[in-house]
Amino acid sequence: MTRVIVVASGKGGVGKTTIAANLAVAFAWYGKSTAVLDADVVMANLEIILGLKNPPVALIDVLRGRLELRDVMYEGPEGVKIIPAGITLDGFNEENMEMLKASLREIPREIELFVIDAPAGRDAAMVMDEGQEVLIVTTPQVSSVSDALKMKLLAERMGAKPIGAVMNMVEGKKRELSVHEVENTLDLDVVAVLREDEAVKEALAQEEPFVLRYPNAQPSRELMRLAAELIGRRYRPPPESLMDKLVRFLRRS
Ligand SMILES: Nc1ncnc2c1ncn2[C@@H]1O[C@H](COP(=O)(O)OP(=O)(O)OP(=O)(O)O)[C@@H](O)[C@H]1O
Ligand SMILES: [Mg+2]
Repeated sequence: MTRVIVVASGKGGVGKTTIAANLAVAFAWYGKSTAVLDADVVMANLEIILGLKNPPVALIDVLRGRLELRDVMYEGPEGVKIIPAGITLDGFNEENMEMLKASLREIPREIELFVIDAPAGRDAAMVMDEGQEVLIVTTPQVSSVSDALKMKLLAERMGAKPIGAVMNMVEGKKRELSVHEVENTLDLDVVAVLREDEAVKEALAQEEPFVLRYPNAQPSRELMRLAAELIGRRYRPPPESLMDKLVRFLRRS
């Protein structure tokens, strides 16, 4: 059966789309047949991160009952299948929400991993369902973590299973919450800590996933390690030149 991993957060703008896209590419890089779905029909941007230009059909066509999921999949980096959201100003309503849940129950069998970039906040309930695993993204700020807790509870109410928190945009400042504090607040393991890194923004500007463009950047290593862990593979850090090492050292300090 296809494993569904939902990337969700309480607060918006914490890095869900960035992490969902790169995690999916990482799974594909490890040889897993992977699809990634942009479930944000109001502010779609997953396709931009993955360099997909003007897809003619998208998830909204599935929600309108015109097409099936497999008709709106596009080939992306490492062979990952991208399902763009398509844009509608109306967002979700009851009718297309049912349609979405129904189509998520009919993910093509050949897909081993199906990553969902959930909309921020309560709209995430639209995609959550029994049997799914949920990664909760949060920044190390109190407000972000308290909203992350609400999202964790929402996921549980929908019958999905929170499998860990991903801390993103960590700068290592004193005012930030620690891994320990986040774990205590959420009652959930922190499974990855991604630093605030220029490489993420550079890769976005180049419309390429950062895990491929900058494999030695800290967020890339961390996400590749997490992906490996989730599928029971061994993580091997990429080879690094002396220059790479120096850059990494300077960024850290
Ligand atoms: N680790 C990081 N280092 C630097 N910049 C980052 C990092 N993670 C995300 N960003 C940047 O932060 C911005 C927001 O990221 P993203 O769009 O993935 O968030 P989101 O949670 O999907 O937002 P929304 O709720 O609007 O969908 C983007 O410009 C992204 O490039
Ligand atoms: Mg997003």
